[in-house]
Amino acid sequence: MTALPEWTFAMIKPDAVRKGKAQEIKQLIEIHGFHIIADQKIQLTRTRAQEFYAEHHGKAFFEHLVDFMTSGPVFALVLSKHDAITGWRKLMGPTNSISARETAPKSLRAMYGTDGTKNACHGSDSPTSAGREVKFFFPALVIEPFLEPGNAKAF
Ligand code: TYD
Ligand code: MG
Repeated sequence: MTALPEWTFAMIKPDAVRKGKAQEIKQLIEIHGFHIIADQKIQLTRTRAQEFYAEHHGKAFFEHLVDFMTSGPVFALVLSKHDAITGWRKLMGPTNSISARETAPKSLRAMYGTDGTKNACHGSDSPTSAGREVKFFFPALVIEPFLEPGNAKAF
């Protein structure tokens, strides 16, 4: 039986955009077999960044994270591939770019990030998050033929 693709939400964060690495990262995304089915360059406001990272509200790093995420434009992307959610998290690597360089040196966060906050990219951690995050950035996007985030049986 042929495996069917699923989709996920990805972001290229302000540090990587500022360093001029966005196109290089998109090329790597495609080399790894993902299709970029939506792509938008956008500047987050503080309110929007706080809303996007609402699950981390109240944590010690929250304000620092919001400062960083509003420090310049990001690229919001929707990616599709078989097992896109876990596959994209694996290609990104561990959250902290410093430890990523030890444990996953070929990952995007190892190659393009700086530390535990400036880590070059974001990826949804579950089908529920993917649905919420795609809607957050692309409220009018209709993804066909995939009916649900992460759905692999919707053709
Ligand atoms: P988290 O959801 O834990 O990681 P991931 O991006 O891998 O899903 O955290 C969200 C972002 O918050 C993370 O990408 C970088 C930032 N962050 C910090 O600045 N300090 C921290 O200690 C942690 C855990 C995250
Ligand atoms: Mg997360």
